[in-house]
Amino acid sequence: MPAAFIRRTAFALFIAALSGFAFAQANKEASTYEPTSGQAGKDVVWIPTPQGLVDKMLDMAKVGPKDFVMDLGSGDGRTVITAAKRGARALGVEYNPDMVELSRRNAEKAGVASKASFVKADLFETDFSKASVITMFLLPDINLKLRPKILALKPGTRIVSNSFDMGDWEADQTATLSAEAGCKASWCTALFWIVPARAAGTHKLPAGELTLRQRYQMLSGTLETEGKTFAVEGRVRGEEITFTAGGRTYRGKMNGRSLELN
Ligand SMILES: C[S@@+](CC[C@H](N)C(=O)[O-])C[C@H]1O[C@@H](n2cnc3c(N)ncnc32)[C@H](O)[C@@H]1O
Repeated sequence: MPAAFIRRTAFALFIAALSGFAFAQANKEASTYEPTSGQAGKDVVWIPTPQGLVDKMLDMAKVGPKDFVMDLGSGDGRTVITAAKRGARALGVEYNPDMVELSRRNAEKAGVASKASFVKADLFETDFSKASVITMFLLPDINLKLRPKILALKPGTRIVSNSFDMGDWEADQTATLSAEAGCKASWCTALFWIVPARAAGTHKLPAGELTLRQRYQMLSGTLETEGKTFAVEGRVRGEEITFTAGGRTYRGKMNGRSLELN
């Protein structure tokens, strides 16, 4: 056998072994990746939501098998994985590719990889219009930037945020977990909103002519009935409407832009 051939073959084998080793090393590094709380992220650092609060957030949104949950900035995947354990389909949007890989491994380990998926993407570039529930642990100014997109979602879409509010759009519900309830450190408050239907305008009802002004989920206005005008105060909860006028309580539902009283 010519010496040159032997040298070439030995060299090729050496390169193959070296790249195999490099590949195994890279895989090992990826699978031992351990994030540090407070590490930089694109727009927000990574701090994990305490598991007790993850559970509370999903309880508030009543997450179940019919839901499609999206966590914006999904970190190590804990919210998505917990939602998937409740039978929901869930998608995490995370900018840091190492965190995306880590979440996928965590979902595999938890046995919910078929329901919990993760994409490496910028949450500002992401379409979340298909979600029935949106969870997030971002920052007040990011919540405000997302707010117009959130308010344009299908009425009834549920939103839960760890700790941060939505400016003057008041939460429908707020809950703070105690240490006994499983939240020992900071970040123990969850805020919950339901995207309100658009109810503002004039509605001709059997009860009279109802004129509604709307500020997020809060309603005010007038009801003209039998020659009298009554002040109206009410609330929108998804598509459900409740208002009081002249000492009576009315309930109804928005069907597109028209109000149907029960
Ligand atoms: C405070 S952590 C919350 C993690 C997780 N949702 C939780 O509650 O445990 C915020 C996460 O958002 C990610 N992030 C920051 N900016 C982002 C962006 N523009 N698009 C997607 N993810 C982003 C960070 O990498 C980090 O993992």
